Amino acid sequence: MIVTIDGVAASGKSSVSSGVAQALGVPYVSSGLLYRAVTLLGLGAGANLADPAALLPLLSGVRLEPLASGNRVWNADHDLTADLHSTRVDTGVSVVAALPEIREWVDAQLRALPAPLVAEGRDMGTNVFPHAPHKFYLTASPHVRAERRARERPEDIPAIEAALTERDRLDTTQSAPAPDARVIDTGPLTLKGVIDTILNDLR
Ligand code: C5P
Repeated sequence: MIVTIDGVAASGKSSVSSGVAQALGVPYVSSGLLYRAVTLLGLGAGANLADPAALLPLLSGVRLEPLASGNRVWNADHDLTADLHSTRVDTGVSVVAALPEIREWVDAQLRALPAPLVAEGRDMGTNVFPHAPHKFYLTASPHVRAERRARERPEDIPAIEAALTERDRLDTTQSAPAPDARVIDTGPLTLKGVIDTILNDLR
């Protein structure tokens, strides 16, 4: 069984997916972490983030570890996870994610993972696992999302809201709900409320 949970930036996808996966007793995978890892390695190598030929050779040692307690991304024996959520990576990641060659690489990593799993991202239900029987898409207003993210980042809410709105714009192509996804506005709900909504739907 595969459950897909897609949604806009900072809609709570990771926390929700982790909670749903734990309740189901299956792993979850956060596809955004792989796009972030490509971006981090590209920035570290001084590569042009719009050039797939410069990025692909950096990826041979990259591996996603779908732990229930939180996914980790490794480059050979180096754990990249703690560096994946910087503002620098946030700013560059949409450029990287727009490259078809990089999307193919990420998709191959995800499809190689054994089911059952909960897959979280932008295009899990539309592109990577189109035959998944259970699909969800999380939304919330930019302001609600900025307020949530402000608890994790040192910037102020208006700056975060502007950056999120810009990332939504850049991600439009790869971030649309699957026609058979249930869309959930997480704005009025607590984290537990979103998780319960999904678990009730699955039962
Ligand atoms: O989910 P998260 O915000 O960590 O994703 C980071 C970026 O990775 C997104 O802004 C988007 O550009 C890209 N992404 C994507 N497709 C996915 C997951 C993430 O294009 N399935």
